[in-house]
Amino acid sequence: MDNINTRGFRIPRSRTFETHHALCDEFMAAIEPLVLNTYSHSAKVRAELEAAFATEMGAKYAVAVGSGTIGLFLALRACGISAGDEVITIANSDISTTAAITNCGAQPVVADVLASDYTIDPDQVEALITPRTSAILPVDLHGHPANVKALRPIAERHNLTIVEDAALATGAQDYGRPVGAFADAAAFSLAPFKPFGSAGNGGMVVTSDEEIYRNLCLLADYGHAPRGPNQPDAYQNYIAEGYNVPLDALQAAILLIKLPYLKEWTAKRRAIGEALEAGLAGTSARTPKLRPESAPTFRSYTICVDRQLEVHQRLREAGIEAVIHYAPPITHYSVYAGLFPNADQLPITERLGREIVNLPVSPEFTDEDVDFMIETTKSILESYE
Ligand SMILES: Cc1ncc(COP(=O)(O)O)c(C=O)c1O
Repeated sequence: MDNINTRGFRIPRSRTFETHHALCDEFMAAIEPLVLNTYSHSAKVRAELEAAFATEMGAKYAVAVGSGTIGLFLALRACGISAGDEVITIANSDISTTAAITNCGAQPVVADVLASDYTIDPDQVEALITPRTSAILPVDLHGHPANVKALRPIAERHNLTIVEDAALATGAQDYGRPVGAFADAAAFSLAPFKPFGSAGNGGMVVTSDEEIYRNLCLLADYGHAPRGPNQPDAYQNYIAEGYNVPLDALQAAILLIKLPYLKEWTAKRRAIGEALEAGLAGTSARTPKLRPESAPTFRSYTICVDRQLEVHQRLREAGIEAVIHYAPPITHYSVYAGLFPNADQLPITERLGREIVNLPVSPEFTDEDVDFMIETTKSILESYE
């Protein structure tokens, strides 16, 4: 097999390509009719994936879209977020999170995060609520479930919607339920480096609210109402201004084949995270501490270290494709200059931005791979003692 995606790293960010090689015949058989057939077959495959994904997530509905970014944006719009609203979120996330808010014309307001698992600190949220606040957007960072259940009573008290950014957490659970279950809507990324990724971009929004679902369908499909039984083919009735952003059916076909493996792959990611935690115990690396109810997935395994950039560079030189996600915090970027009045009041977000290094996690890793990561990280950290 050509190691086309290792980019020269002994431990690349992901070894999904190995799984894709193993499933390739099945992928090709599923893709061929889509390439040769009509649009209606595409719609059928996408609908099958939506139904299977909704079941997997314990939600009533799922809408497959072109990316996690567009999924978050549509979820906010489907929940009625619009110009002048404020949405409370975090600053140590991808730009997709805040961009989804600003693209609705709304103002992102950032709360600090928990030092333990890097997700939104529910105790910080209430103080940020104003009469303009309309939603909370927690992020399951690195695959660690945000405590959305704890945000629920706050949302109820202030009549707020919760849209969860579960882009990095497909497969994770909290309080015994799949992530997204405590939110009004949740958006997942199905891009290749995510815990449940396709061969290209993709996203999914889940909800159990029928009105949010109808809005999502409308917005993802140009804004035209579904065709009634007596209306001619290609009849169009625009009742909203929407977008043309359904998930590409070729990606849907691949994801349908992969979905039955999700539980097994999540368990493997969790086992790798646990092995890294145990192996790095006693070193100077600070590892995430998850709540007992939380059953994360690990998109990557984060360690916090004193010499972030040096450790990151040395890991890569040693053959481990470490990355730094998501640092510096979003408040630092020129595109958001002046947007966040409380940017200097996020001590934990700032500290994480200076310390975080992400080690690769991929279900295809062997015990030997994980041991190599542990030993290499240990020896780098010990060299500074
Ligand atoms: C936290 C977070 N939210 C949303 C997204 C957007 O997902 P996508 O890349 O599918 O647009 C990402 C992508 O990396 C992400 O990390």
